[in-house]
Amino acid sequence: MIVKNIKLIGAIITFNIFIGFGCTYKQIIEPKVSQELVSFKSDIIPIFENNCISCHSTQSIPPVLLSQNAFLTLTQNSYLNTDIPEDSRLMVKVNSNHPNQLSPTSFEKQVLLQWIKEGANNN
Ligand code: HEC
Repeated sequence: MIVKNIKLIGAIITFNIFIGFGCTYKQIIEPKVSQELVSFKSDIIPIFENNCISCHSTQSIPPVLLSQNAFLTLTQNSYLNTDIPEDSRLMVKVNSNHPNQLSPTSFEKQVLLQWIKEGANNN
């Protein structure tokens, strides 16, 4: 009887942990990506500033990702593929072995991809 109860309690705890993680995931990931459009100026530029411009701020390491250059650099040099966003040179490089110690978080990568999926607007 006691053994049976312990098993039941264990199952309840496991179930609650599972549900708990499910909720955390939804709260963190869904609001930004699914409800409003990603903004180039307020979502994408800060990702570049936090993770990229320490290296990508001069022509010696293209693409130049400073706020005043990033949009034209990316759109005019075919770094983006709005037909197959995952194949964009930008995304392939961000997801690959890159000489980058400060690599973006998986959430930041998701925001970058979502921005391209929405048509890579200068918004
Ligand atoms: C520690 C320095 C460093 C940081 C930080 C860095 N990069 Fe790079 N990146 C490089 C160097 C060096 C190259 C060229 C060598 C290579 O392609 O691996 C490069 C290449 C690239 C390329 C390919 C260029 C081409 O013409 O094909 C892209 C796209 C790129 N980086 C995007 C990014 C993005 C986006 C970030 C931020 C999320 C970032 N990089 C952060 C150093 C860096």
